[in-house]
Amino acid sequence: MSEKVYIFDTTLRDGEQSPGATMNIAEKITMARQLEKLGVDIIEAGFPAASQGDFEAVTEIAKSVGDIQVAGLCRALKADIDRAFDAVKHAKNHRIHTFVATSDIHMKHKFNKKPDEILEMARKAVRHAVSLTPNVEFSAEDASRSRWDFLAQVVEVAIAEGATTINIPDTVGYAQPDEFGKLIEYLIKEVPNSDKAVFSVHCHNDLGLACANTLAAIKAGARQAEVTLSGIGERAGNAALEEVIMALHTRKDYYDVETSIITEELFPSCRRLATTIGQPISPYKAIVGANAFAHESGIHQDGMLKNRQTYEIMTPESIGKKGISIVIGKHSGRNALGSKLNEMGYQLDEEQVGRVFAAVKALADKKEEIFDEDVEALVLEEAYRIHDLYRVKELSVFSGTAGVSPHAAIVLEDFSKDKEHPKTIQEVGFGEGPINAVFSTIDTMVGRKPKLELYSVNAVTGGMDAQGAVTVHITDNGFKSIGRGSDEDIIVASAKAYVNAINRAERMKQEKDNA
Ligand code: KIV
Ligand code: ZN
Repeated sequence: MSEKVYIFDTTLRDGEQSPGATMNIAEKITMARQLEKLGVDIIEAGFPAASQGDFEAVTEIAKSVGDIQVAGLCRALKADIDRAFDAVKHAKNHRIHTFVATSDIHMKHKFNKKPDEILEMARKAVRHAVSLTPNVEFSAEDASRSRWDFLAQVVEVAIAEGATTINIPDTVGYAQPDEFGKLIEYLIKEVPNSDKAVFSVHCHNDLGLACANTLAAIKAGARQAEVTLSGIGERAGNAALEEVIMALHTRKDYYDVETSIITEELFPSCRRLATTIGQPISPYKAIVGANAFAHESGIHQDGMLKNRQTYEIMTPESIGKKGISIVIGKHSGRNALGSKLNEMGYQLDEEQVGRVFAAVKALADKKEEIFDEDVEALVLEEAYRIHDLYRVKELSVFSGTAGVSPHAAIVLEDFSKDKEHPKTIQEVGFGEGPINAVFSTIDTMVGRKPKLELYSVNAVTGGMDAQGAVTVHITDNGFKSIGRGSDEDIIVASAKAYVNAINRAERMKQEKDNA
């Protein structure tokens, strides 16, 4: 029988740390449930000591999943470890993931500590974590640039103290596949108690080698892979879950290992993430990009028609990329939508289903076919958006060719004084274009002047009547915030995204004030 490789997903921690990938708690919970459906073994839900928001998110995720393991990251410090445990302890299966850097460059410049002191930090951290739970993972940050003999010493101590998973990160994406494989082989061979732990790898993609390094490590004996959906993560990202999985799956003859991933959930999971963070999947992305299974050249098309295997090493169906599926229409009832939402892994209360239902009906009046992607966008819009302070109620915009001064008339609901009974505020304002008119009118209405750092608009699906999904990044009073909005009218979507970013910035400010 083939050995199992455990899949440790860090989309909600390393992935969420990357610019533009911030998610609110409800969004993280729905992603966690999707990861559970995908079959990952462990979810790293966050870094509880990093902020109150992270602590709450990890706690809520831990409470809302089933048997899947939930890990919380923490530095090798008692207070951090306690904080992580307090958050993950609500999960049936919880894990503490503690780390300290072991490379000379990190030990000297980050900690100003000698190797012996770092070794003691690792020893004490693992000892303390094990006193809270038997499921402890230890990571040697910047392992790939560490001295191998020192790394082996730290790993031995961590295992002796009770760590059951040893993670070897290529933190800065520096390693080369052959060399990284040899490092794993060396550790497994040279560390006397290596048989008492699962060896794991966590590879960054700075040189585009994260997936190759992960696979080389698995070939060399690593039995846990730390990955993220679509490879999101710090800088150039992490190893992409879908790439590692499909390589193991397609080349089982070469790797001879098993995972518990349901490959048909790969595409729906990456799509869910893309919708949630408002960053579309690149068409060239391996496995899940729109072009990944498209055959354009005549020779390829001819080959495909004769036998698909001529140019297809895996099928779109195997990653859950089905043909067009119309999910819900004008005449579908609330129950049909309810079961569709359940099937898609959303757990919404009656009121949320009602709001999504009304939005689906309104969209069906304007759009011929409603796809899974549309429903996902509406769930985010109606059920998961934070509407703390302001909400767009009505909007009309006038713009045109030269000589016309673009202007916007906007009505907002203002919940700032009363959460239950919003005040209606309205304003008309001018701008250099329709979007500028909308944003500056909103600025006047809310009495702020955020700096717009990024604005992007993408179609949720194909087709002339596709909804537009807008993402904006703003800096407001020193708080960097991201807002998203979708609508079949991209100017309305822009207004929703901008208001959402202002709401999020305000929430950050309140959290900071409370802390
Ligand atoms: O890249 C890294 O080294 C990490 C560790 C904290 C696991 O993210
Ligand atoms: Zn990392």
